[in-house]
Amino acid sequence: MRLRRKPWVDEAIHDFDDFVVSRDQTIGEERKDHWAEAFGRQAPLYVELGTGKGDFISQLAARHPDINFIGIEMQQDVLYQAAKKVREQERTNVRLLVFDINHIESIFAEGEVARFYVNFCDPWPKKRHAKRRLTHRGFLEKYRHLLAPGGELHFKTDNRPLFDFSLEEFQAAELTLTEVSYDLHAENMPDNIETEYERKFSAKGEKINRCIVHF
Ligand SMILES: C[S@@+](CC[C@H](N)C(=O)[O-])C[C@H]1O[C@@H](n2cnc3c(N)ncnc32)[C@H](O)[C@@H]1O
Repeated sequence: MRLRRKPWVDEAIHDFDDFVVSRDQTIGEERKDHWAEAFGRQAPLYVELGTGKGDFISQLAARHPDINFIGIEMQQDVLYQAAKKVREQERTNVRLLVFDINHIESIFAEGEVARFYVNFCDPWPKKRHAKRRLTHRGFLEKYRHLLAPGGELHFKTDNRPLFDFSLEEFQAAELTLTEVSYDLHAENMPDNIETEYERKFSAKGEKINRCIVHF
């Protein structure tokens, strides 16, 4: 999702300073183990990686007011759209970070996260870029470290080669899978929340792959 840079967003994003950490604020080690304080309460922490425009996290957070949610997105212009949705829905259980997932281990403590969501991440189709895929074993090791016992990764993608690669990575990491689907929308899925990319790809007839990974 590449948008033309909108310089005015750098100012406008500060309307959401009560729940957004913008690009010009640093997020560092001092945040580790302190996310519950940012929400003013202890609750399980669910983190979405590559939040995009926020349809998914804003709806999921509305459905689960008892969970603390963090959405991470590196494009500030895109995250601004997510912030507007969170504000419109008056959600108080969401925090949004402009941050690069490659450094995720520097902002969460061991066992601090209960669940990760990865929805329609960039497939990085070239083999030499495989390490950049968010389901590469290098990332799985980071998730394993950050997840609490019983932690999960919920993964959806339209991209079948990426899905197949990911299943191999999960297997190599000796992780257990449940709810594996190669065509999620063909199933009874009353609980599914569609992301922006999911809507776009399924409208084009693409099948949606999904699984839950248990760490
Ligand atoms: C293909 S889009 C999917 C967006 C959304 N999850 C959806 O399903 O509609 C992937 C998103 O991940 C973000 N992203 C990719 N790599 C990232 C990284 N290293 N750190 C943070 N965000 C990243 C991109 O900016 C983009 O918004």
